[in-house]
Amino acid sequence: MDHYAVFGNPVGHSKSPIIHRLFAQQTGQKISYDPKLVPIGQFTEVANNFFEKALGCNITVPFKEDAFQFANELTPRAQLAGAVNTLKKLQDGTILGDNTDGIGLVRDLKNAKVLLKNQRILLLGAGGASRGVIEPLLNEQPQQLIITNRTHEKAQTLVELTKHLGPITTERYENLNDPVDLIINATSASLSSELPNISKHTIKPQQTICYDMMYSRELTVFCQWAKQHGAAKTIDGLGMLVEQAAESFYLWRGILPKTEAVLRFLRQHIT
Ligand code: ATR
Repeated sequence: MDHYAVFGNPVGHSKSPIIHRLFAQQTGQKISYDPKLVPIGQFTEVANNFFEKALGCNITVPFKEDAFQFANELTPRAQLAGAVNTLKKLQDGTILGDNTDGIGLVRDLKNAKVLLKNQRILLLGAGGASRGVIEPLLNEQPQQLIITNRTHEKAQTLVELTKHLGPITTERYENLNDPVDLIINATSASLSSELPNISKHTIKPQQTICYDMMYSRELTVFCQWAKQHGAAKTIDGLGMLVEQAAESFYLWRGILPKTEAVLRFLRQHIT
């Protein structure tokens, strides 16, 4: 049996084991997939041991940069994201680092029939989560992708890094007063039930769609805020989680699992 895992700290809450076990069941693949609590500062040691017997792993907080450093080779999308969420041992023993978060977000948006082409998209945050989704969003040819961040300089740096890829600009929170078509919250604010300092005027009632990369059983504070101001639709990040997992599974096993039933299962059992 081939072995896989998710590395994180903490990792007990991770939904990846259940998602990958469901994928394996659905596609008839004989694999094991376990959570692995990695002590801070010991990523390389744990990963080296792991890859003596195993074929791949997902990486979650706070090790995505460690995984980026650990990989012997990087896919172009991982290189652009500056972070790795999937490692795969190739036949010659090389460890390949990939990042499936961005494609996961775009697929989830498409599943929800959210238009991206020619749309004005506002991306909140300029950390790892935000950086990982910029290129896949620009590939969808939006009219404009605006990045805003509490620490403005970080947004400016991201724009410098990616402006050759498409129409990306930055704006300070306090200067955002016009409605956009889609707002994506890639900040970690929802983790502490905080809201980014964003004007309600960025929402055009009945038209703007709001997406929070976080998810929880109840509406996230960002989705609550969006509803309160009339957003046409709010979506949380559970679907993105399932879609990025499907792409990792594809990288490892060469089969892209179906995601709809898995997402439905998680939605029913989310804690
Ligand atoms: P991740 O890997 O999840 O992106 P990160 O790299 O630590 O985590 O980035 C967190 C992002 O959330 C940053 O853009 C951060 O803004 P700063 O760069 O100014 O720190 C943003 N963030 C966190 N809490 C926030 C809050 N309460 N309001 C607005 N932005 C917040």
